[in-house]
Amino acid sequence: MCGIIGYLGERNINEVILRGLERLEYRGYDSCGICVVCNGKLEYKKIEGRLHKLKEMLARDPLAGNIGIGHTRWATHGVPNEINAHPQFDCKKNIAVVHNGIIENYHTLRQWLSSRGHQFISDTDTEVIPHLIEEYYHGNFLAAVQHALPLLEGTYGLAIITTYEPNKIFVARRGSPLILGIGTGGEFIVASDATAIIDWTRKVTYLSDDEIVVIEKGNYFITNSKNETIIKDTEEVLMDLAEIEKGGYPHFMLKEIFEQPETITNTLRGRILKDNNQVRLGGLETEIIIDDKKIKAKDYLVNVDRIVISACGTSWHAGLVGEYLLESLARVPTEVEYASELRYRTMIKLPNMAVFVISQSGETADTLAVLRKAKEMGIPVFGIVNVVGSTIARETHAGIYLHCGSEIGVASTKAFTSQVAVLTLLSLFLAQRRNILHDTVRHEIVSALLRIPTQIELILRKKDEIKRIAEKYHTFNNFLYLGRGINFPVALEGALKLKEISYIHAEGYPAAEMKHGPIALIDKNMPVVVIATDTDDIIYEKVLNNIEEVKSRGGNTIIIATEGNTGICRLADEVIYVPKTKDILTPLLNVIPLQLLAYYIAVKRGCDVDKPRHLAKSVTVE
Ligand code: AGP
Ligand code: GLU
Repeated sequence: MCGIIGYLGERNINEVILRGLERLEYRGYDSCGICVVCNGKLEYKKIEGRLHKLKEMLARDPLAGNIGIGHTRWATHGVPNEINAHPQFDCKKNIAVVHNGIIENYHTLRQWLSSRGHQFISDTDTEVIPHLIEEYYHGNFLAAVQHALPLLEGTYGLAIITTYEPNKIFVARRGSPLILGIGTGGEFIVASDATAIIDWTRKVTYLSDDEIVVIEKGNYFITNSKNETIIKDTEEVLMDLAEIEKGGYPHFMLKEIFEQPETITNTLRGRILKDNNQVRLGGLETEIIIDDKKIKAKDYLVNVDRIVISACGTSWHAGLVGEYLLESLARVPTEVEYASELRYRTMIKLPNMAVFVISQSGETADTLAVLRKAKEMGIPVFGIVNVVGSTIARETHAGIYLHCGSEIGVASTKAFTSQVAVLTLLSLFLAQRRNILHDTVRHEIVSALLRIPTQIELILRKKDEIKRIAEKYHTFNNFLYLGRGINFPVALEGALKLKEISYIHAEGYPAAEMKHGPIALIDKNMPVVVIATDTDDIIYEKVLNNIEEVKSRGGNTIIIATEGNTGICRLADEVIYVPKTKDILTPLLNVIPLQLLAYYIAVKRGCDVDKPRHLAKSVTVE
């Protein structure tokens, strides 16, 4: 999950590399480094800790040169310290490598290379790469790279510079994202994602697995380990800088929470036909090939009789909401699987099934692995992804983009609500094409869906009230989140938000399940957040029973309730009201106070909200 950058051009190399690493720091930030080729030598600086320390070092003693690479790390092998920071070198420091990924056979390679006289100084898996290339270097550096890469097992995104060919950058990827930016005046920039490129150019090429790019002033070519010539199109990156700036907010996470009325509007935009509230999903107009037959994705899906949703973290929670939506609206049997589990489990292929992978970044290794496993089995795979051009987006048969803009905060917020909005659209789309939803019902749901952005605005106006509650409870070290039905996944998501940015232990649970164990935890030291918005069925009454069970054991309750429900106050130490909407749309509203509660508690506890410890925004390693 680290961030990689490489630059070749006439600009100030320190500025370009540092700015790029700032844009990429959300991907990993336990250590960082930079290396340039200067007068035929590799000059570098690397440190343990955050980027600002490297910035201060370079301000005092800048590097010189027109070719350089940089890295901001999320350690997988070797503690975060200066020696294990990237770049990593060969023995004589003729080769510098920055790496995103995991080399799974590094131990075997390290033993073999050591037997050949190589000396290692770091504890990283990465360090075997420059040594392996050195081992095969006999005058042609590209040939050495082409020889070494197939011997690596695992994943890599690499940028390499060398004194052997000091006017070039060598770039390669397998399983970790890399994008080549093509600037004017013969400059090039390569990075883990587009946020680090658009300061300098919008013209890019997305690298695919097993491709190698050789970059020199004014020219580049793409090949692979077999030395085949690869021709790829260039594309235009459309994201704008404002998206990746904080816009006056103290944290990206708060900005992204407050963006949700706009981002959900963008997610819905163009997908609901005004005249009849019918849903149209352009991404499913794509023609796919299944069992050697061409069929439009939407036509395949209309007959699908089993959907497997697979994702990680918050995206997995969105998938759980999707299960309720797909089964209740479209009557499609749906199961939701952790990608990290499903990738190693036996997958059963049935006729007329589909796999949906959900991923904000489109680069999550576990989710990508499920995608590739399902495709190998001949199962159609569709994506619900945010980052345009990401690996998952490009490798699925078809998909639906979130259109919620760059999400920089490590804790996912606007992506979650956009994922749920897309799953709602998908469920309505399948229901209408399977003729199992009366037009009146669909009209009501779609009209309610179109009101969600405004209703979120109303909830966001309660931020000071939610902040007060957060400050009242910020010292507690354990929380329980309870929800039922379609709001059980929201309880899980609220708990994840709190734990990942405040480091408080928080657990989400189905409300009724509490009495089968977790109720033993209830006392005055365990605040219980309960989602108890009105429902058209008996669920609400049942949740009241669960709240009574909590109160009778001295628990503190923070309740999410529907506007106007004053009766709930007798059971609540705190109530946060949300507007009334259709039951199946309540996750879109109920998650908002939970996002804000987590945010304000974390801020009050002095945590680094946008870059929580040990985490990274995109988990591109196992
Ligand atoms: C969510 O707040 C976390 N940052 C994390 O669980 C995240 O949702 C998970 O890593 C999946 O990421 P993706 O959506 O980019 O695949
Ligand atoms: N596996 C490499 C290391 O631990 C790279 C980790 C990453 O992708 O950030 O240094």
